Amino acid sequence: MSTNLELVTLPEAARITGKTPHNIRDYLQRQRIGKYNHQGELIERARSGELRVSLKELQTFLSMIEQGIDKHHQAGLHPELGFHQVSESQRTKHVHRLHPYLGKFIPQLVEWFLSRYFKPNQVILDPFMGSGTTLVQGNEMKMHTIGIEISPFNCLIAQVKTQPYDLPKVSAEILEIEQHLTEFSKSLATPTKKLEQFKKKLLADCQSDYLNTWFAPNALLEMWYYRHLIPGYQYQDLLRVLLSRAVRSSRLVPHYDLATPKQSLPVGQPYWCRKHQRYCTPIDNCQSKIHAYSADTVRRLMEFDSLRSNRMVKIFQGDSRQVNLKRELVNTPLANRLIDGVFTSPPYVGQIDYHDQHRYAYELFGFPRQDSLEVGPKKRGKSKLAQQEYVEGIAEVFQNVLPWIKPKGKILVVANDRFQLYPDIAKLSGLTIVEQFQRAVTKRTEQGDDPYQETIFLMMKKN
Ligand SMILES: C[S@@+](CC[C@H](N)C(=O)[O-])C[C@H]1O[C@@H](n2cnc3c(N)ncnc32)[C@H](O)[C@@H]1O
Repeated sequence: MSTNLELVTLPEAARITGKTPHNIRDYLQRQRIGKYNHQGELIERARSGELRVSLKELQTFLSMIEQGIDKHHQAGLHPELGFHQVSESQRTKHVHRLHPYLGKFIPQLVEWFLSRYFKPNQVILDPFMGSGTTLVQGNEMKMHTIGIEISPFNCLIAQVKTQPYDLPKVSAEILEIEQHLTEFSKSLATPTKKLEQFKKKLLADCQSDYLNTWFAPNALLEMWYYRHLIPGYQYQDLLRVLLSRAVRSSRLVPHYDLATPKQSLPVGQPYWCRKHQRYCTPIDNCQSKIHAYSADTVRRLMEFDSLRSNRMVKIFQGDSRQVNLKRELVNTPLANRLIDGVFTSPPYVGQIDYHDQHRYAYELFGFPRQDSLEVGPKKRGKSKLAQQEYVEGIAEVFQNVLPWIKPKGKILVVANDRFQLYPDIAKLSGLTIVEQFQRAVTKRTEQGDDPYQETIFLMMKKN
């Protein structure tokens, strides 16, 4: 067998060896099998873009395990923090999947740390709140939570996840608006003069080139129709998030690329789908996604409702380097209370543009964008200068919030510190790194296939 022929994708390797693709990603992450060939070069990905491994190397490794001559866990990686047994549905349980979000950590990671370092009724801050995972999990564990986040759409997702609902009313609203949409969709099949006039009027204020490019004509009409119905309901923010989720799935983007679209042109004809391993047809409507997510949303809200506590959840949209927590909390039950600790995951240097990943929602609703205030965005890259700006930006956030945190408060920060910036960040912020936990990241909420390693820094204020 030539060297090239021996390279297989993870699903192929899984099929041949009787393991799962997750197992193999895990072996890669733990460096039990290599990402490099005999020449020391990075193994080329398959044409489809999927990671590949050497089948021979994998089989040798598996036979070593069978003979008991291999140590499964590479020294240094915390055995409990891989969460290898946690299924996809558990990682995205209840409200955590009301809307996808690239860069989320899993609730099980939050739970592990909150249960060890904090108690019910304490106050936890997440100054890089994202979609609110810390807030949801903290609330479930009877803790008060505060989140700060620069992206207005992320704040909307977190708000919708954490607010209490009148569930019968929510169900009725979601069902009714969906019924209106279904009738409208049906009417599109029989064009009339009246319908044509209505369509023209409906789309008159859809000025977005992005929306006009990335959706099939009927999908655009349906989403715009749903959008125009929202002001007639009580739970408008929830309906906006539900619609955004459907719109995300209705883009003319290949299924395997929905999280980070790479193509510059909409997909126009059936294509080979890496995700589903078959030919998929570009979606021509939005209604089917609304239908799927309507029932799913109600089910998720009901599930969280049975777990949630009545502790405070406060969300502030703004730049964590600037937000004045004392002033923001003044008229709330959390005023005059110091915060017990932080659990957060700042952006990784040059990895994600957090506003841009939800571009469809910004274009759909016209929310104001504050991209330029993101710390460490992808568009700034990973250069030395970008790293320096990142260090200063993250340190400014800690300097800004530390005065409101108890002297012995625990600051837990989840980071992929491949550039080893956190010692400098800690120093600049007036923090001491007390402990570091290393964890293998093979299972994320948004499936990517590049395994990596994360560090959770436990820090405390310097005396
Ligand atoms: C890694 S994500 C956090 C994800 C979160 N843990 C979750 O599970 O959803 C980092 C977040 O920091 C936000 N962010 C970046 N710069 C910020 C700033 N200056 N102030 C507040 N938030 C910021 C980004 O918009 C992004 O949502």
